[in-house]
Amino acid sequence: MLRVAICRPARLWFGVAETATTTARSRAYAILRHHDFNPGARQFRAIHLLILGAGLLAVALSSIDPLPKPVEKTLTAIIVLVSAVFLFEYLVRLWTAPEAARFAGLSPFRARLQWAMSARGLIGLLAVVPAFTLTTGTVEAQSDYSAIFCILWVLKLGLHAPAMGTLTRVISNERATLASVLIVFMIVLITAATATHLLEREVQKDLFGNIPAALWWAVVTLTTTGYGDVVPHTVGGKMVGSVVMVSGIVVLALMTGILATGFAEEERRREYLRVWDQVTKVPMFTELGTVTLSEIVSKLRVRHYPARFVVVRRDEPGDSMFFISEGEVEVRLPHGSVKLSQGGFFGEMALLDRLPRSATIATTLPTTLLVLYASDFYEVASHIPSLVEAVEKEARRRRAENEARLGSPGSRS
Ligand code: CMP
Repeated sequence: MLRVAICRPARLWFGVAETATTTARSRAYAILRHHDFNPGARQFRAIHLLILGAGLLAVALSSIDPLPKPVEKTLTAIIVLVSAVFLFEYLVRLWTAPEAARFAGLSPFRARLQWAMSARGLIGLLAVVPAFTLTTGTVEAQSDYSAIFCILWVLKLGLHAPAMGTLTRVISNERATLASVLIVFMIVLITAATATHLLEREVQKDLFGNIPAALWWAVVTLTTTGYGDVVPHTVGGKMVGSVVMVSGIVVLALMTGILATGFAEEERRREYLRVWDQVTKVPMFTELGTVTLSEIVSKLRVRHYPARFVVVRRDEPGDSMFFISEGEVEVRLPHGSVKLSQGGFFGEMALLDRLPRSATIATTLPTTLLVLYASDFYEVASHIPSLVEAVEKEARRRRAENEARLGSPGSRS
């Protein structure tokens, strides 16, 4: 969603009236926001990922020694080019920093300074260093420095990937549960290391002679890695090893379960907010009370489509209906076409009549739809009769219109 221009009194910023740049700046900010779903932002993320991938591949390949001179030159050129793109991105991010909600109330200069000093700003700046060092000849493409830049680029990807924010929140939400599993992990680890030290120290003095040395074996066994470089030889040591292996599986299963559940819950919460954001653009929903609305919000899914995308095809079975929260679609009927815009809905006939789709529907603009699957539709029908009555009424009107048009002499077939 593109943010609208923020009206502020004109203020001079490097000689340019602040209000004159605000609209362009807020648009650029919306495109750069890593959790935004507007088409521009999604296209930017795809291109950014491609450029980053090309850069990382070039850095990885440049570490092969020896390389033919032309290949080496091409790889250096790619690294410099990718860095130049990142420099441009850095400057745009710096320019748009005052748009961030967390810098609200700060002057543009202070907002930019704070962004430049943040982890994102610093990593963004360091990511462009390869271009300077390579062009000035300070560093060779194959040197170890390029590997460091490679790490910085991956970090840059991590900082802007939406999943990183989710991971941080999941770890923060589940920190108490994760901490208790970690404590169990530590107890098993130290007990195992101490027990094997006592049991194995006579037989393998160099590997189990002290507890820190035995810890290596305990970590490798408890994490189920099992390099096999250190193994207990005594019967007691082997018995301890068996218990540690089983405990390792239990601890890892617990960790996986906690993180997977946390991720699923976080995603459900995010989806709820995304749907809520879109639902407010559909008058049919805003007329419902808050409690009813929150019930339907949990059943809807947000889907973004580019222009000219076929959402449903005529004669295919239908398992869902759609509400348009942004954009426009074209209903291609046998006798002509109809356009539906924001607030409209389609796909209800297949659910109500349990028949195949009566028309093909394609987007004419980038469109955001709210999808209601058949199983949820029938549940909503029993809980929110007013909504389904409105849908049924419109479906009756559409059926009558289609029949009338098909029957009329000028109709297309
Ligand atoms: P369905 O048959 O499931 O899939 C195609 C959809 O096109 C249909 O549901 C309606 O939602 C929509 N549709 C059919 N006829 C019309 C019409 N005359 N005007 C607007 N939409 C229509």
